[in-house]
Amino acid sequence: MAEFTLPKNSKIQKGEKIDASDGASNAKTFTIYRWSPDDKDENGEVKNPRLDEVKIDLDKCGPMVLDALLYIKDNVDSTLTLRRSCREGICGSCAMNIDGTNTLACTKDIGDVKGDVKITPLPHMPVIKDLVPDLNHIYAQYNSIQPWLKSDSPAPSRERLQSEEDALVLNGDDGHGPAACILCFCCSTSCPSYWWNSDRFMGPAVLLQAYRWIADSRDDATGERLDQLEDPFRLYRCHTIMNCTNTCPKGLNPAKAIAEIKKMMVARK
Ligand code: SF4
Ligand code: SF4
Ligand code: FES
Repeated sequence: MAEFTLPKNSKIQKGEKIDASDGASNAKTFTIYRWSPDDKDENGEVKNPRLDEVKIDLDKCGPMVLDALLYIKDNVDSTLTLRRSCREGICGSCAMNIDGTNTLACTKDIGDVKGDVKITPLPHMPVIKDLVPDLNHIYAQYNSIQPWLKSDSPAPSRERLQSEEDALVLNGDDGHGPAACILCFCCSTSCPSYWWNSDRFMGPAVLLQAYRWIADSRDDATGERLDQLEDPFRLYRCHTIMNCTNTCPKGLNPAKAIAEIKKMMVARK
């Protein structure tokens, strides 16, 4: 288990400058956050995080930021650490902050960033190493909303069918309903309320997931699910700042899902 030993009052420092572009005309610099609990100074203290600047030839890698990061890992510095799996915007694992916005590295076009591309981990999360945040706490919160179907009726011999109308509540008219969430946590890590109260506030990703089950016509635990969220912190720390909806790389609307839960709370009183 990694230890989180970022030095107290640690400041991000300038790191290495590496020109791996071979003088290519189509070159770009990627400024990348680097930190490892294993990087220690001569006194045995864990070093401050740093921003490395790596210049590469864009003609040698694919068009997305993830392509550039993998090119750098494969050809420039194999110690660069990041998560990724699908490279199709489906798994949610390559979420990071690129050019000031939380998004997916695999769907972020390098060409959309003017100038150098600055890449840091999702904000306000503990860092395990480089671009890899520790998601244990947020997954424990996800688990707490019991994200599975709870039905009072016996399991049928095949899937539980739903009317098209009911399925639309989950999928959305445009495919951007709560069921399309990929749990990348770009939204929660862009929410100021979550930054300051993540110990108790569930945050937009987990609340959107809670709504996904509350709104499922096949689920019989609506009352129990609402009871679990009826709390000044878990739900009501959302102040409708909307960062979550603005940042979601899948175009979902967690703020609306939270508003729907609040409406249901009022309606049942
Ligand atoms: S709408 Fe609520 S959940 Fe979304 S960013 Fe604002 S406070 Fe956070
Ligand atoms: S709502 Fe969007 S930003 Fe939030 S976790 Fe789901 S897919 Fe990611
Ligand atoms: S690698 Fe799966 S969403 Fe980016």
